[in-house]
Order: sequence, then structure tokens, then C-alpha cells
Amino acid sequence: MEAVVIDAGSKLLKAGFALPDQAPTMIIPTQMKHMPEDGLLSDIPVVDDVTIDPVVRGFIRDWDAMEDLLHHVLYTGLGWEIGNEGQVLFTDPLLTPKALRERLVQLMFETFNISGFYASEQAVLSLYALGRISGCTVDIGHGKIDIAPVCEGAVQHIASKRFEIGGIDLTNLLAKELQKSNPGTNISLSDVERLKELYACCAEDQAAYEGTQKSCQREKHTLPDGQVITIEKERYTVGEALFQPSILGLEEHGIVEQLVRCISNVSSENHRQLLESTVVCGGTASMIGFEERFQKEANLCSSAIRPTLVKAPEYMPENMAKNSAWMGGAILAKVVFPQNQHVTKADYDETGPSIVHRKCL
Ligand SMILES: Nc1ncnc2c1ncn2[C@@H]1O[C@H](COP(=O)(O)OP(=O)(O)OP(=O)(O)O)[C@@H](O)[C@H]1O
Ligand SMILES: [Mg+2]
Repeated sequence: MEAVVIDAGSKLLKAGFALPDQAPTMIIPTQMKHMPEDGLLSDIPVVDDVTIDPVVRGFIRDWDAMEDLLHHVLYTGLGWEIGNEGQVLFTDPLLTPKALRERLVQLMFETFNISGFYASEQAVLSLYALGRISGCTVDIGHGKIDIAPVCEGAVQHIASKRFEIGGIDLTNLLAKELQKSNPGTNISLSDVERLKELYACCAEDQAAYEGTQKSCQREKHTLPDGQVITIEKERYTVGEALFQPSILGLEEHGIVEQLVRCISNVSSENHRQLLESTVVCGGTASMIGFEERFQKEANLCSSAIRPTLVKAPEYMPENMAKNSAWMGGAILAKVVFPQNQHVTKADYDETGPSIVHRKCL
């Protein structure tokens, strides 16, 4: 049985057997619904009426809900049988606290009785998906932006940075903007999120963005409940916030400047190799016009070496940037489990949860 690879994001959980040339078989909301009548959590993930997010800004926050969700994924979704559990590889977000890594390995061995465990950092895995071991990953997900320089498969933690901005903040921004331009309407956040995924885009550059704020094409959209809303300049405001965080009320630099600043903290002989292998990934980076704008801003950088985006290899399935951490995990699983580099049940029984730091580098 192939190992299972799990990338549990703040919005989407990607899970499937380690088949790197295929998309993960399960891409489901990382959400659980509370069932008040019996006081138990449902084991059915839902899209609406969500009351529990087991993962917040990248990290597992509600372990009971996570356990129920993983139970659903492994036994119902992927068909594991109780008593015959397999091996699992998890993707770790940047700067995962040691205690969280230990708790996860403990949950997997003690509650799920798995036969083997491995965990690796999302930034490294996203590079593997593109066939690289060195480069800089810019992962723009739902709950966070992680910028991580990686040299020979090792994240340069001292130069890495986590920003607590992600797709969720862009959804909230769009909700606020649509409320202003469509007074009297009542749009649920899940509808706003869908609108964002359909319409949000990045202008070519800052001047073009300013132009869109004066005039731009108006789109009409009918929501599932029949309300008709119009969307125009808001779609550009959402994309621009990644390049001008002041739109979100934050005093941060834009994403390209942040990347260059992170790299400046790495030894200078690595700057070229890192910047010229920049990988942008995560669902938010799939926004219309994002890569073009990113590259345009990168070309305007005052630094001697400018970031260059790595193109997805032809053999990768379409839209892979959304799932690159999972795909890199599938590639790594093909190495660590057959070569016995993983944490075995015997290792765990002998050393306890701290084994994860020694074996999963
Ligand atoms: N076309 C699109 N335009 C804008 N945003 C998009 C688009 N497609 C997906 N998204 C956003 O991407 C986010 C989900 O991305 P991803 O799956 O990388 O996040 P995650 O892994 O769940 O979260 P994180 O890594 O931050 O914990 C959501 O906020 C979603 O609305
Ligand atoms: Mg993610």
C-alpha cells in the first residue's frame, strides 16, 4: 500500500496516496461542523455553516476536530481499514513549533496506529514538486504567506518569514468593498470567497491599478440566492493588497520587496541561485494576473539580482501550484518510506514523540 500524503491547510486539506504525477484524490475543506444534538463533531466535512476550523493560520489549533477530520479522510475517503493502517507523510508549515510536530506524531501512532510517519516542510516540498532542491518558496495560502529560502533541501530559517496574511484576509477585504458598492445586499462569506476566486485579479502594475480605480469594466453576478451584485474595481483592489499591504491596513512592504529582504539575510554567494529559482505557490497565487504582476515588480527591483519565477515543468498536471506542497510530499514519500528513513512504530515506541525532530529533518 502506498503511503498517504496529507497537506492540511487553513482552508483546504489535500490528501491522497503518494502518486506524484496525479493530483491529490481528496481536496476538501479543512472544516468540521458541530452537531449540537449529541454533542459530537460530525465526521462529514461541510462547506457552509462551519463552526470549527481545526487549522488556523497554518497550524493545527483544534486537535479533537483534526482527529475526526483525519479519521474521515483516512478510513472513509482513502479506504484504510482499522487494524491495517499504513504510513503517512505530513507537510509542515514554516516555523512549526516543536510541540505541534510531537503532538501530531503522537496522534498518528497512538490513535491511528499507523505503521510509519514522516513530516517535511511545505517550502521544501513545493520546490521538489518543481524538480528543485534550492530556491525560494513564496507560498500564499488561505491563512498565511510563507517566504522561505531553501538551500540544498534545507530551509534557511533565519532568513525565512511568515506573514499572517492570506486568502482569508482578501476575502474579508472583498466583503467590505462589496458592501460599500452594493449597499442593501447581504452576501455570505462563502459567496464572497467564490466571487474572489472567480473575479479577483492583479493589475499589470501600480499605474494600471490606479487606472482601474477610476474606471473599469462592470460585471454583474447572480448569487445562488438570486441577489444580483455588481463587481468592478474591487476585483483589482483584492489583488493589489498583496503588492500594497497598506490596502489591508498593514504597514508591511509588498510581497516582492519582502522576498528580496528575506534573501538579503542569506549568505551572498547564494543570492543568485535562490532568487533565480523563485517558486510561487498556494491557492491565492493562482489569482488572475498574479504571476505576471509579480514578475513585473521583480524586474523593477533595485537589487543587483532580481527574482525570476520557475515555470512549472510540462509533465506536471495543470494547476499544480495550488497543490505543490502535496505533490512534493508524494515525491518525498517515494524515497523516505522505501529507504526506511521514516519514523517506524519501533522508533516511536523506543524514543517517544521527540523522535520526529531527529528523523524528520
Ligand atoms: N483563483 C483564485 N483567486 C484568488 N484566490 C484563490 C483562487 N483560487 C483559490 N484561491 C484562494 O486560495 C486559498 C486556498 O489556498 P491553499 O489551498 O493554498 O490554502 P491552504 O493550504 O488551505 O492554507 P494555508 O497554506 O495558508 O494554511 C483560499 O483563500 C482560496 O480562496
Ligand atoms: Mg497551504
